[in-house]
Amino acid sequence: MPELRGSHGDSPTNVLTRWFGTPDLHTLDVYESKAGGYAALRKALLDMAPADITNEVKTSGLRGRGGAGFATGTKWSFINRDSPGPKYVVINADESEPGTSKDRYILENSPHMLVEGILIAAYAVGANQAWVYIRGEYDEPYRMLSAAIEEARAKGYVGPKPMGKDYPLDIRLYRGHGAYICGEETALLESLEGKRAQPRSRPPFPAVKGAWGRPTLLNNVETLVTVPWIINHGGAAYAKFGTDKSPGTRLMSVSGNVNKPGVYEVELGQTFRHVIMDLAGGIAGGHDLKVFWPGGSSAPVLPASMLDTKTDMESLAAARSMGGSGGVIVMDDQHCIVRAAYRLLKFYARESCGKCTPCRIGGDWAVRTYERILANEGSQVEIDTLLRVSDGLQNGRCLCGLGDSAGWVIDSTFRHFREEYEDHALRHECNVGKVATSA
Ligand SMILES: Cc1cc2nc3c(=O)[nH]c(=O)nc-3n(C[C@H](O)[C@H](O)[C@H](O)COP(=O)(O)O)c2cc1C
Repeated sequence: MPELRGSHGDSPTNVLTRWFGTPDLHTLDVYESKAGGYAALRKALLDMAPADITNEVKTSGLRGRGGAGFATGTKWSFINRDSPGPKYVVINADESEPGTSKDRYILENSPHMLVEGILIAAYAVGANQAWVYIRGEYDEPYRMLSAAIEEARAKGYVGPKPMGKDYPLDIRLYRGHGAYICGEETALLESLEGKRAQPRSRPPFPAVKGAWGRPTLLNNVETLVTVPWIINHGGAAYAKFGTDKSPGTRLMSVSGNVNKPGVYEVELGQTFRHVIMDLAGGIAGGHDLKVFWPGGSSAPVLPASMLDTKTDMESLAAARSMGGSGGVIVMDDQHCIVRAAYRLLKFYARESCGKCTPCRIGGDWAVRTYERILANEGSQVEIDTLLRVSDGLQNGRCLCGLGDSAGWVIDSTFRHFREEYEDHALRHECNVGKVATSA
């Protein structure tokens, strides 16, 4: 069994991780006998109409955990269940966002939860075939999920008559191609179809024209893993957790300069102080917190002075950031923010698929500008250039969110640490240890 580095057990807010840590939970036998597994699938297939399942998910208020936070039940209702021809469910298990490992935690601990969630979703939207697009580097999660699917197949839950219901359900796995862009939903669909992973322009959205041109529901692993609980306990019970507009709990993978990096289940509305200082054990090595990324490297940074920001999506939007992929990256006061931003920009520039001009050109341009600044060749011109490039990457100017993310790194680090940028660019010095200049 993998080492547990995060939430598990009998806490009242452990909706997803309640049974994590149970020996052999990854086997069908233990998932059913100890964790009540597949009861939700039985209920959904035998006692509920597909529209009722979707309505229950709507009532829960669940919002996608992959990045954008779109309302899950509403997304399901976009698929015309009665339209003729094949429809698909595609599960995004690419998880390439820096600082994010929550889906891996799920797959390694309780892969049957995902199998169950997928089967319920497929039945609800009228699909018979599901594809899991799993990050190519995820060997162990791939192995565990494959084994779970095969066990479910042997038991008949995946197959022509799941739970005796005349409704064929199949799940297949597709190993991803090792690029960050493969997690973007339309690039993922291209990759799944055997083409180069590049985003499609939208509309049409995947619900209308997705995999192989067919109506497709695309959801993140954690989103679907939440569904069995909702079916078992009801959407209203789920909505009691969290806040009005961001109900429920979510998994946050906390990494960086903390004492206890790991994956923690957090009721939305709790503060980041709770996540970083309590759950993840505070800042390591006796240093102070400088800055954190609240939702993966793509989410705009927040300085230590904003540690009491709440984890729900509305509070994060008010703080000019986002919950994103649930990856909380923590940096202490021994690090230079300009260097950190440079490092991330190198990542975004390298991972740009090159299909749209602002992202293809902008990322490299920003990297070269950071390099001039860090080589003590900067001036106000370089600062202005960075801000102009950042603006050119945002607000719909790129085909997908990768460009926005690159822009937000520049923008948000400059907004909160302007003085450090000016130290580097104008005075040619690095004063690591400075606190944020604004909140
Ligand atoms: C560059 C980029 C990478 C992404 N990577 C992932 C990923 O690895 N996993 C994921 O679930 N969503 C990822 N997303 C978000 C997906 O496009 C999509 O919004 C999500 O999978 C939808 O599922 P949800 O509604 O359940 O959140 C990424 C988006 C962008 C722009």
